[in-house]
Amino acid sequence: MSQVSLSPNLKKAIEEFKLPETLGFGNVMAPVMATCTYENGLWGAVELKPYGPITMQPNAKVLHYAQEIFEGMKAYRVNGKGPYIFRPDENFLRFNKSAERMAMPHIPHQIFTQAVFDVTAYCADFVPRRSGESLYLRPFMFASEESLGIRPSEKFTFMVIASPSGSYFNDGQGLSVYIERDNCRAFPGGTGFAKTGGNYAAGLSAAIKTKNLGFVQTLWLDAVHKKYIEEMSGMNVFVVINNELFTSTLGDTVLDGITRKSLMSLATDMGYKVTETQIDIDYLISQIKNGTCTEAFACGTAAIITPINYFGDANGERYPLYFPEGKISMILREKLLAIQEGREVDNYHWIKTIEPKKI
Ligand SMILES: Cc1ncc(COP(=O)(O)O)c(C=O)c1O
Repeated sequence: MSQVSLSPNLKKAIEEFKLPETLGFGNVMAPVMATCTYENGLWGAVELKPYGPITMQPNAKVLHYAQEIFEGMKAYRVNGKGPYIFRPDENFLRFNKSAERMAMPHIPHQIFTQAVFDVTAYCADFVPRRSGESLYLRPFMFASEESLGIRPSEKFTFMVIASPSGSYFNDGQGLSVYIERDNCRAFPGGTGFAKTGGNYAAGLSAAIKTKNLGFVQTLWLDAVHKKYIEEMSGMNVFVVINNELFTSTLGDTVLDGITRKSLMSLATDMGYKVTETQIDIDYLISQIKNGTCTEAFACGTAAIITPINYFGDANGERYPLYFPEGKISMILREKLLAIQEGREVDNYHWIKTIEPKKI
């Protein structure tokens, strides 16, 4: 890897950082961030700086036209070894897939991994050590050209920031999931498969409705038929019917989750039949009501695997799962976490070990 430049005040920022006892998710920011800019068709060098404000002109294109993409990944250090990062090349590939859809330049593998690995290496002491906790890594890229013309930007900034984090959801509490039958998150030909801010912004008014109705998460249906389950706002979904696992097909409206993909391999190895298919919401409700669908769960980097207590509709109807705390889902959660946290043999070579660095 080529040399990164370290800003002179980075050592002080690292020395002064204290990991708080209570973390939450994405609230505490690690003291190191990486930046790299793209101009005239070329990427510059990666710089490591203390975490802090960035400046931009009010006419930077990202603020008006949302030309922005991001990734979410985690570094683990539960047994004190590592840090370990889970399948970073999958995040790299998805980042460039999102970049293509959003008319942004591909980022070279070397820049992406150097920025992610170095932020992790210099923050190795701030990776929390309790199981289920991690250093959440957030690579992102935005249009930084200063102009109000509606055109793809010619300048971009790539950054990596990190957050020592606990669980995304309160441990042990399953999710209540609102079936959103009006608004849509994504549509064929749109940007649903890309990890771009606008997809998340489009889901926020439904998030308010979801909360006001007493639910925790929103379940999106397909935009054409308003019938088939797609995913939640920040995680994919599995349902268990007759002890078989089902998850929605991907297409261009659903994010190709790395946790989803990993679970499909692990569950198959463990002898479960896993099927990607269109899941009709009314069929699912009938299978829950007759006891054939016994559990359902959300999965993603942030959520890991979180069982669903019940689905529900705006008219007050609730469809409770037979195993609200999960059964197969909890076996899979433990298997996945054990690999991610370096507690179990990594047969798939999914784990990248990062050598801690000091200034
Ligand atoms: C919309 C959406 N779906 C699914 C996922 C799960 O993807 P992954 O398992 O790669 O984190 C995420 C989180 O990244 C997401 O934001």
